[in-house]
Amino acid sequence: METPWPLTSADVDDVMTIGGLSVADLANEHGTPLWVVDESDLRDRCKRYRTAFPDVDVAYASKAWCVTGLLQIAAEEGLWIDVASGGELQTAVNAGVSMDRVVFHGNNKSEDELRMAADLRVGRIAVDGFAELDRLERIGIDLGHTFAVWLRITPGIDAHTHEYVRTGHDDSKFGFTLSLGFADEAMEYSLDLPHVDVVGAHAHIGSQIFGTDPFIANAEVMVGLLAHWRARFDVTLTELNLGGGMGIRYTHEDHPVAVARYGEAVLAAVQRACDEYKFPMPRLAVEPGRAIVAPSTVTLYRVGVVKRLPGLRTYVSVDGGMSDNIRPALYGAEHEVRLAGRASTAALEPFTIVGKHCESGDLIRERVSLPGDLVPGDLLAVAATGAYTESMASNYNRLPRPAAVLVKAGEVRPLIRRETYADVVARDIPLA
Ligand SMILES: Cc1ncc(COP(=O)(O)O)c(C=O)c1O
Repeated sequence: METPWPLTSADVDDVMTIGGLSVADLANEHGTPLWVVDESDLRDRCKRYRTAFPDVDVAYASKAWCVTGLLQIAAEEGLWIDVASGGELQTAVNAGVSMDRVVFHGNNKSEDELRMAADLRVGRIAVDGFAELDRLERIGIDLGHTFAVWLRITPGIDAHTHEYVRTGHDDSKFGFTLSLGFADEAMEYSLDLPHVDVVGAHAHIGSQIFGTDPFIANAEVMVGLLAHWRARFDVTLTELNLGGGMGIRYTHEDHPVAVARYGEAVLAAVQRACDEYKFPMPRLAVEPGRAIVAPSTVTLYRVGVVKRLPGLRTYVSVDGGMSDNIRPALYGAEHEVRLAGRASTAALEPFTIVGKHCESGDLIRERVSLPGDLVPGDLLAVAATGAYTESMASNYNRLPRPAAVLVKAGEVRPLIRRETYADVVARDIPLA
């Protein structure tokens, strides 16, 4: 069974290593907090996805972690890149990603962002609403450009995940709601827009989903919709994007399906539905974010304070917190935590690991078992922090955002430099 730790993590001389490097040395050299990305793990997950989805376009959902170096790796591994803002698109440009392999998402893309997409000849736009269709047509007329688009559909599937990461149920800000007839209306409306070429449909039902059933249901509903459009509008769309959302193992209590089984289940469901509706197999796409990048990364923190409250609990404060990982505060998410810089034979005790921010909700992990001799100066490693951590990072309490390094076979390559206090105040404009 896969652990929550990256592929190459090991213990050598009582110290955790990743990519053949001691995390104690990495922390001493690059400071803490520090994101350490295991390059072998990351590339392996890209490859596993491509193998599980043969002849399918696999797009890395860069919202999970959008950094130039990571997009370079994803593109090298043959993945498309999904972006959801001008900033993410600019990162793809900087990473040298071929623009015809970029998908542009977002429920409120601005005029400027859509013009940028047109100028760059971005491969596909996932259109989210009627206002965007009008915007695209206007820009298309202006620039003499025809956009190749997917209509993003809200298919009415409840993925039984945290409400903040559910997107496929009807009451959602995303997409054209199928049950309200908006999907049909959007298709019909698009047929009269010469600069909007609808080539396919898209549906992303949510994130951190463990079973295969919601994905199978999504595939069935979406092929059904394509068949319905063929009957109603005499239009046979040739592309179908089934989104991302595969769950991962943050702690030993999580039991996600293996990507191979997920791929098999989804592809079989699409094939079954195509057979049922006698619909030609569309060109498929999927867009995983978390499942590509989260497990590759650990965050290293230095312990600063151990506060024992007899009869209550023991708090351990580390040198980062909700500014570098908002997930526990935002979703009640849990990550595996371990003592990383030394061995200990002390009995395990429950500790609550907290950050250094001025919020009681500034939590890394509640009541986790760690050796009872934990002291200031110790190094803690937090697992599976590659997705929705740095990408959601802030400067709360004006903490400089941490650095990130890529490690492989004893070599370190910087991905993001640590912010300085000068960075933190750089945008302030003192009053004259
Ligand atoms: C449209 C879309 N595609 C893909 C993803 C990636 O989801 P995940 O990181 O769970 O794979 C998201 C996440 O929010 C999304 O909104």
